[in-house]
Amino acid sequence: MDGFETVIYERKGNIGYVTLNRPRVLNVFSVQMRDDLYEILHAIKVDDEIRAVIFKGAGEKAFCAGADLSEFLTAPSVVKARQIRLLRDLWGLFRSMPQPLIAALHGYVLGSGMEIALFCDIRIAAENAIFGLPEMGLAIIPGAGGTQTLPRVIGLSRSLDMLLTNRRMDAQEALDFGLVSRVVPGDRLLETAEEVAQKIASYYMTAVRNAKQAIHQGLDMPLQQGMDLERRLAVNTKISGANTG
Ligand code: COA
Repeated sequence: MDGFETVIYERKGNIGYVTLNRPRVLNVFSVQMRDDLYEILHAIKVDDEIRAVIFKGAGEKAFCAGADLSEFLTAPSVVKARQIRLLRDLWGLFRSMPQPLIAALHGYVLGSGMEIALFCDIRIAAENAIFGLPEMGLAIIPGAGGTQTLPRVIGLSRSLDMLLTNRRMDAQEALDFGLVSRVVPGDRLLETAEEVAQKIASYYMTAVRNAKQAIHQGLDMPLQQGMDLERRLAVNTKISGANTG
């Protein structure tokens, strides 16, 4: 799979690599990038050979500095924008990915860059990473799930502080807040993401996928329902393990 304008997709063994590739403009998220990511994620989703996916940004300066402001708020009409969104629900697709997604984050991780990272299951930051939601300064609110995903990751108070005051966080603070789970020197970022991806890829696929599903889906359920979900998925894991073994 190649030939995308804004994203590079590569595959090594059982690991997929998705690189946001507009380094000259800090990999900002454009309509074209949405379309490219949509196509790539769709292909990965149905490819059982891919056991884990690493998301990263090209260039030295950024994972992604948010929405492309040069094309921002220029949709022909709200109706058109909604139609397009229904046809290409990239954020829904992110949420439905069965494989664990790993974000390797360096430099600026702003706006939709941060929202993409929030759809990932494991976030690893380079020491130079800077996180922020600049939407208040643009008189808008996040539109890629950030108001919903951020509080689920770092909690209510910190999310409100970050969003309403346009507060930026460095990598250490992001680690303290639980926004990322590891911070590494920049030159170890990809290597660390690969180690994590390979570890995940070495485990029994159904167990990995069911564990991911149980945690994400369960978080949106009352405890008892979540326990029932876990029980069903545990049985499913056992049965399919027995069938394979
Ligand atoms: N949309 C479109 N282009 C962007 C962009 C964005 N969100 N962010 C940066 N760029 C472009 C710049 O215009 C510049 O292009 P140019 O060289 O053709 O002028 C290039 O990327 C490099 O950015 P620059 O501002 O020169 O880098 P910097 O290191 O001085 O500053 C930032 C980096 C991230 C602090 C600054 O670019 C910034 O604040 N960007 C906007 C972030 C934002 O509000 N994102 C939207 C969130 S919803």
